[in-house]
Amino acid sequence: MKIGFIGDIVGRPGRAMVRKHLQELRETEGLDFVIGNYENASHGFGLTEKNAQELFKAGIDVMTGGNHTWDKKEIKGMLESLPLLRPVNYPEGVPGRGVRIFEVGGERLAVVNIMGHFAMPMVDNPFIAANRIVDVLRSEGIGHIFIDMHAEATSEKRALLMMLREKVSAIVGTHTHVGTDDLVIDKGCAYVTDVGLTGCRDNVIGMDARVPIERFLTGLPGRFDVPDKCKAILQMAVVRLEKGRAADAYKIRVYSEGDREIALRARIED
Ligand SMILES: [Fe+2]
Ligand SMILES: [Fe+2]
Repeated sequence: MKIGFIGDIVGRPGRAMVRKHLQELRETEGLDFVIGNYENASHGFGLTEKNAQELFKAGIDVMTGGNHTWDKKEIKGMLESLPLLRPVNYPEGVPGRGVRIFEVGGERLAVVNIMGHFAMPMVDNPFIAANRIVDVLRSEGIGHIFIDMHAEATSEKRALLMMLREKVSAIVGTHTHVGTDDLVIDKGCAYVTDVGLTGCRDNVIGMDARVPIERFLTGLPGRFDVPDKCKAILQMAVVRLEKGRAADAYKIRVYSEGDREIALRARIED
């Protein structure tokens, strides 16, 4: 099966790129299933129901979250009624779920959302949670396991790969909004530290650059805003799985000017 993963979709420019390009990418790349990260989809903060429907209609099958999952109050009901995830390592009793299982081409695929520890809300230990959930999925005979590791620290993402590479199919990073060039298939597990944002590429992590500049100059708080107009980008990791292992992985960038490129192809390590 071939899976497309779109990292943090930021605001209207990000959603517009998904609406404009995803159906065609599904066809040209032969994608069977598409995952996207919603945590910044609605004006940079969380997800509204209207925008969720817009993104599902555009061709996304399931969406993962992160620390911004909770920014819109309506998310709590949506986590039950729509194919949405929030990080699995929130404590018991928190609404929503961090794992969903899908049937793709007659095979089962588990999508898992985990949140890192450094500079993140205080949640349960992501490594202990990851081990526990992966063991449960494997004991249920689910071989295709795709993880969105939503974390600030590159070391946490890399450590998760080292810990789980023989047990899961793919670990892709989100949250920093900056794509990294370390796409690899390591012992059958596709990995990239961060897929990077889908949204404005000419500002600061998809947000209007004036606000962070002012914040950094003065130390005073300011409300982040998504620009109305910008040069945008859609970034997608594509992973082809065979019998639960990653056989090929590459990264596509589509620009708002209309051009696109295969930006990286994974090196395969034993
Ligand atoms: Fe984000
Ligand atoms: Fe985040």
